[in-house]
Amino acid sequence: MDSFSAVLRTATREQHRAAESAPFMSALLGGRLDVAAFARYTEQLWFVYEALERDAARLARDPVAGPFVRPELLRLPALAEDLAHLRGPAWRSTLTALPATLRYAARIGECARAWPAGYVAHHYTRYLGDLSGGRVVRDRAERTWGFAPGGPGVRFYVFDRLTDPVAFRHEYRRLLDGFGADAAGRGRVTAECRHAFALNTRVFEELHAELRVRP
Ligand code: HEM
Repeated sequence: MDSFSAVLRTATREQHRAAESAPFMSALLGGRLDVAAFARYTEQLWFVYEALERDAARLARDPVAGPFVRPELLRLPALAEDLAHLRGPAWRSTLTALPATLRYAARIGECARAWPAGYVAHHYTRYLGDLSGGRVVRDRAERTWGFAPGGPGVRFYVFDRLTDPVAFRHEYRRLLDGFGADAAGRGRVTAECRHAFALNTRVFEELHAELRVRP
């Protein structure tokens, strides 16, 4: 039987490919976005991570979600720095969520409040993804818009409180493998991961649609 971490990876492989090649991501990775579009994307991440991290202190004490919730991962402080750089000191008053972002954040919030195992699905989809593919986005952003390496603008992509990100990813997969749920429970978490990818894809689609009207 495959380990749970392998099951999750396999179950989302196709969606991962689709996310990587989504027109918005292709434009970003191809250096074809202006910095305002990158700011708009970063702004959407703010709402997603607010939903993920708002209840982090409580979830850290939860028997199911707790082992995954680590202060070294928290991204909101980095996003605040990035948005201040991208939008200026009044950045907070400029934030608006796309409809797809609101739906994504609302679903994370529901899980955070009522279904810790579902919250783990969202946690995995974001943090393990950011730790893995985030490097690619960061490099491209630095080259395209000239941010200082790992500096304001791309702080989100720098996990400088993790001493060894590779070891951390292995540890995270071991935690997933020890996830205390029966087959049905694991199946529901797998389905929620797929849901998380789909919610994220909708955000990319709306970001891309917006580009057409504001090229
Ligand atoms: C340009 C976009 C992206 C790139 C270049 C990228 C790249 C990568 C790479 C290189 C890995 C490591 C694969 C491995 O260890 O074998 C990875 C893993 C992962 N990515 Fe992405 N990714 C992107 C977008 C996304 C998005 C949008 C999500 C979800 C919201 C996501 C979620 C994940 C997850 C959950 C993993 C961990 C898979 C696992 O080991 O279980 N990625 N990504």
